[in-house]
Amino acid sequence: RRCILIGAPVQAGTRRLGCDMGPSAYRAAGLGLALADLGLDVEDRGNLVPAPFSVPPHPNPAIHGLPEVAAWTAALAEAADAAGGLGVPIFLGGDHSLSAGTISGMSRRAACEGRPLFVLWLDAHPDLHTLDTTTSGNLHGVPMAYATGAPGFAGHLPPLAVPVDPGHVCMIGLRSVDPAERAALRASGIRVHDMRAIDENGIGVLLAAFLDRVAAAGGLLHVSLDVDFLEPGIAPGVGTTVPGGATFREAHLAMEMLHDSGLVRSLDLVELNPFLDERGRTALLMTDLAASLMGRRVLDRPTHSF
Ligand code: ARG
Ligand code: MN
Ligand code: MN
Ligand code: MN
Repeated sequence: RRCILIGAPVQAGTRRLGCDMGPSAYRAAGLGLALADLGLDVEDRGNLVPAPFSVPPHPNPAIHGLPEVAAWTAALAEAADAAGGLGVPIFLGGDHSLSAGTISGMSRRAACEGRPLFVLWLDAHPDLHTLDTTTSGNLHGVPMAYATGAPGFAGHLPPLAVPVDPGHVCMIGLRSVDPAERAALRASGIRVHDMRAIDENGIGVLLAAFLDRVAAAGGLLHVSLDVDFLEPGIAPGVGTTVPGGATFREAHLAMEMLHDSGLVRSLDLVELNPFLDERGRTALLMTDLAASLMGRRVLDRPTHSF
């Protein structure tokens, strides 16, 4: 199996600086080697450099970084579609606005193959704001709305070839949802499992039900893993920590189940902020999780000496 690493040092979606150091931190943490150790054919394409993309200013005065995010969205959609046809692309972020590009590209890829795209969203946040509802103006809060074809993006971000069916999206780990997002979630048909649902059912039960649906539909699965899905105590290297996140064991179980399903075609690793990290521990944990998803068993994982 071929694995294609694509660095996406996107910073424009958040005001907290440091996300653009993410791809370097994954390389320093040994992500490529960890995957090669699993017998995968690993190709690191380095960091993507988007071509400039000019967009008119948006009337919402809070918004910042729109031309940069538009440029990344166009470049990443191309890269995802192309690499998704050759193997499993792993996008090394970069803030979560990058998923506007990776999901729209994978959606086009799935359509080319005549299969529906499903998205597993592992995050404390739904990132379901539109350009009109965001009050922070941070565009890492909007990629799911864009990818599912919510109104108001036309003329501001690149046109979306194939919107993702909200019924094909499952969010696990939510614990910080803004009022406008709550309303949008209710109306959308997106499957949502907050932290309480994990506590009451176990993450394995929730994920198994979704994977069954993907398999039954002959779907292709994109996984978007936000660092803040994890409990901040084990993953401090992120700008938007929310207490009460997924544990080490819950996260690894999810990754192992994803591997066993054989359904995952692409992966985003987003929101790592190495400037806020402690001796690389968040980068190492995310690297271990990616390795689990690609086939490493938790009991085989190496001991780090940092
Ligand atoms: N909902 C908040 C906002 O729109 C937080 C978004 C956090 N998103 C993220 N990808 N970390 O500003
Ligand atoms: Mn996010
Ligand atoms: Mn988040
Ligand atoms: Mn408009």
